[in-house]
Amino acid sequence: MVHGANETLQADLENRPNPADPDGAIKSSLSAIDWSFVDRRSHSEIEGIHPYPAKFIAEIPRAILSSLPIPKSTAVLDLFCGSGSTLVESQRLGIPSVGVDLNPIACLMSRVKTASCPVGLEEHAAELVRISRGVPKSDVPEIPNLDHWFTPGVQIEINKIATAISATVSEVQDCLRLALSSIIVRVSNQESDTRYAAVDKNIAPEAVPALFLRAVGRINVALKSRDYALSPVNVVEGDILKVEPLEIGQPVGLVATSPPYPNAYEYWLYHKYRMWWLGYDPLKVKADEIGARAHFFKKNHHTAEDFARQMRQTLHLLDSVVVKGGYVAFVVGRSKIHGKLYDNAEIINDEARSIGFKPFFMTDRILSASRKSFNLSHANIKTETVLILRKEVE
Ligand SMILES: C[S@@+](CC[C@H](N)C(=O)[O-])C[C@H]1O[C@@H](n2cnc3c(N)ncnc32)[C@H](O)[C@@H]1O
Repeated sequence: MVHGANETLQADLENRPNPADPDGAIKSSLSAIDWSFVDRRSHSEIEGIHPYPAKFIAEIPRAILSSLPIPKSTAVLDLFCGSGSTLVESQRLGIPSVGVDLNPIACLMSRVKTASCPVGLEEHAAELVRISRGVPKSDVPEIPNLDHWFTPGVQIEINKIATAISATVSEVQDCLRLALSSIIVRVSNQESDTRYAAVDKNIAPEAVPALFLRAVGRINVALKSRDYALSPVNVVEGDILKVEPLEIGQPVGLVATSPPYPNAYEYWLYHKYRMWWLGYDPLKVKADEIGARAHFFKKNHHTAEDFARQMRQTLHLLDSVVVKGGYVAFVVGRSKIHGKLYDNAEIINDEARSIGFKPFFMTDRILSASRKSFNLSHANIKTETVLILRKEVE
């Protein structure tokens, strides 16, 4: 059957798939989205479980996942999954997903947000606090500058809880670690999550177990508030530049991701003391973190060419795991490196063409005022780009 112009136009206007031009319908539904989501009112409990810098608002992966076709028996992939926003939205839609991130706090968040809620979580936590009172005071680990950021009494209390968590049953460990992580800045001398000044906040040591139990309660409520079945999620902790296709482990039909921007955020720094307290090494994370500002201050600092190379390598990984005709959505901002502006979407698009991904859709979105003010003020960057590529069929 041949479809006439009227039929095509009607199908596009109603945003329903038009067999004569399936791309047209997808593109018009992508164009109809207000990608800045200015009407966004509030976030779900699961979204607010723990702070994470530059995370997606849930509406972004939700719009990507519901506008693009995802072939049966394929998974959604987020190469830089951070707090797990794409994984949670995939679960809401009943689609299996895979997330990769270098940062262990990101992976912890992603696992907790997509796993079932452990039975008796709050009771476990209360018992743990009781047991933790017996942990000897002298055991506080050697952490650089600890006395600058934590009072001695607070150090002792955090250490008691962290030690007790390491000794408890594995089913509850992730939730309890995330709860402890969520209160670290609150009980430290750090002014706030985004201000790295040490101030006297007058935190009583007894506040630590109380705040920890409250955080466990919040996580428990958030996990129980989910009203959908939990489709499988695999979180791979590692440097994307070293991840092998086998670790992704399944064919990928859609990628929805937001890569780190050169000279923009510092995920490792934001979570530095959370990582030290939970036994991870933030300096190792810093060394491998793509785009971290620290790499742009030193001699022989990173450049936009380094970012292009890192994205090329990442796109080669995608080439081996994404099915033909599959879509790859990047949400990426611009960078300022030593006074010069770089369009990262353009860099990715250029690299992608040579690997066999064709541009499919592109638009700009306005960054929310709260997100702008965090750390990117040095570059005065107000928008970011939604770039959607498609893997060529031939
Ligand atoms: C823009 S954030 C992603 C935020 C995520 N979309 C969310 O909603 O939370 C970029 C992420 O890239 C991660 N990252 C940086 N370098 C990496 C690397 N070499 N390998 C894997 N992940 C990396 C950072 O840890 C950070 O979580």
